[in-house]
Amino acid sequence: MDDNQNLRLPDPALPVLLKGQKALVTGANSGIGKAVAIALGRSGADVIVNYVAGDDAAQDVVNTIIAGGSKAMAIKADVSDETQVQNMFKEMIQNFGTIDILVNNAGLQRDAPFAQMTLAQWNTVIGINLTGQFLCAREAVREFTRRGINRAVSVSAGKIICMSSVHEVIPWATHANYAASKGGIMLMMKSLAQEVAPIGIRVNSICPGAIRTPINSAAWSTPDAYASLLSHIPYKRIGEPEDIGRVAVLLASDLTDYMTGASVFVDGGMTLYPEFSTGG
Ligand code: BGC
Repeated sequence: MDDNQNLRLPDPALPVLLKGQKALVTGANSGIGKAVAIALGRSGADVIVNYVAGDDAAQDVVNTIIAGGSKAMAIKADVSDETQVQNMFKEMIQNFGTIDILVNNAGLQRDAPFAQMTLAQWNTVIGINLTGQFLCAREAVREFTRRGINRAVSVSAGKIICMSSVHEVIPWATHANYAASKGGIMLMMKSLAQEVAPIGIRVNSICPGAIRTPINSAAWSTPDAYASLLSHIPYKRIGEPEDIGRVAVLLASDLTDYMTGASVFVDGGMTLYPEFSTGG
């Protein structure tokens, strides 16, 4: 991390906006999911920390949330498996009573040049990043619809936040499976938002770009890679998972109640065509 990055990291106190709400964050034992789970907890929500591997890391996130005064519990489930997703929702509802906020975050990359990409690499990425979001969103919509609005908690019947990427609009050579999954999330999210708006359910996406997480460490962990990544970011710092956590709190809260079907880019300006900042 350079001095400029250090100097410019925000650390505002999170307002309590989510008291009484029950949240599920998938892929919440590392990276963006972990930061989102902790931020929702700090903002007053009780949080289910979903994960698929790494019991200790999931328990650490749970402990952090509990230490901050909210309830938390880890549930292991593979989001691409229909039965495991349905069992996770049953377990959540047994323990927390309901769900108010779903953050569809679990995702991964299996990069390869197109001609060398295996069907397994394609299917793994589509299965977790896209089908996983479908399976979790479907269970959440079922519970939101059954329960309806509880004004003491929120004026909406439920909120879904899909973790997309700048790559829902930026093509990405050698990452066709990943870009296809994120492009798919965009229109799944918007189609779902249109369908469930009349029953008071809000659905939005966060589109992070260049956030420092374990899955993209190759892009920032050497000085050369860091400099090259920074050249894509007009704001001249790399994003931190907490940058996404704060936006998730806002989108989950009634502060953004009139927002639905939006792709919210949180990318330091990565999608502003930085190569056009001079000339063009
Ligand atoms: C990817 C990262 C990448 C970033 C910007 C994200 O969606 O997961 O690996 O650095 O987009 O290209």
